Amino acid sequence: MTDNTDNTNTPDPNKAILRAHSFDGIQEYDNVLPMWMLYIFYISIAWSGWYFYNYHFGDGAVGPRDLYAQQALNKPAEVAILSEDELRALSTQDDIIAMGKEEYTGKGCIACHGADASGSVGPNLLDDFWKYGSNMTDIVDTIANGRVPAAGGAAMPAHKGKISPKRINATAAFLVSINRATTKTDGKAPTGKAPEGEKQPITY
Ligand code: HEC
Repeated sequence: MTDNTDNTNTPDPNKAILRAHSFDGIQEYDNVLPMWMLYIFYISIAWSGWYFYNYHFGDGAVGPRDLYAQQALNKPAEVAILSEDELRALSTQDDIIAMGKEEYTGKGCIACHGADASGSVGPNLLDDFWKYGSNMTDIVDTIANGRVPAAGGAAMPAHKGKISPKRINATAAFLVSINRATTKTDGKAPTGKAPEGEKQPITY
């Protein structure tokens, strides 16, 4: 064993090299790593690259946003009262929007709001005007509990009990998604029934 304390020689794998530092009389050899250990090291570096790619971009990658939305949606019915942020997270999830569309077309919303949601008995849901607010908590409240206009006229029926809380949330997510697509994405003024209520565009 060479006492190579200046540590300047080219390391010889057959000789143990003693590092220069010493702490409390304890010194350290500068040994060459065994090959198996090195290979584990290289394989973990390669694997981390693969993992990073798949976690964020791969097929079926579930990012933190998706997880948040899934957890929000799967809360049990008793606590299905979601926060505005939790609901907004749902409004960009394709599977949830599809579920909401099913409710919108299957649960008679069409009869009063039109197949394209541009209004008939009930208000136009594609414009920037809302009688009861454009936050998702407002829309969920409207669908679940219904609304009776103060001035008289047709009322919005309550749907809790007819649609599960989970699906009411999904219906609101669907409405927000089609409203966004009309007012923002295609840039066209919404057609259909004249606006009612206050101008409160969906900006989220
Ligand atoms: C019987 C007719 C009818 C049915 C069915 C109906 N609505 Fe309505 N809806 C209305 C009317 C009328 C209003 C306006 C109430 C008012 O002015 O107070 C309204 C209001 C709303 C609003 C609030 C709009 C705003 O400007 O704030 C939303 C959102 C809505 N409905 C969604 C739905 C959804 C989703 C369904 C299906 C689950 C549905 N409605 C089924 C008649 C209906």
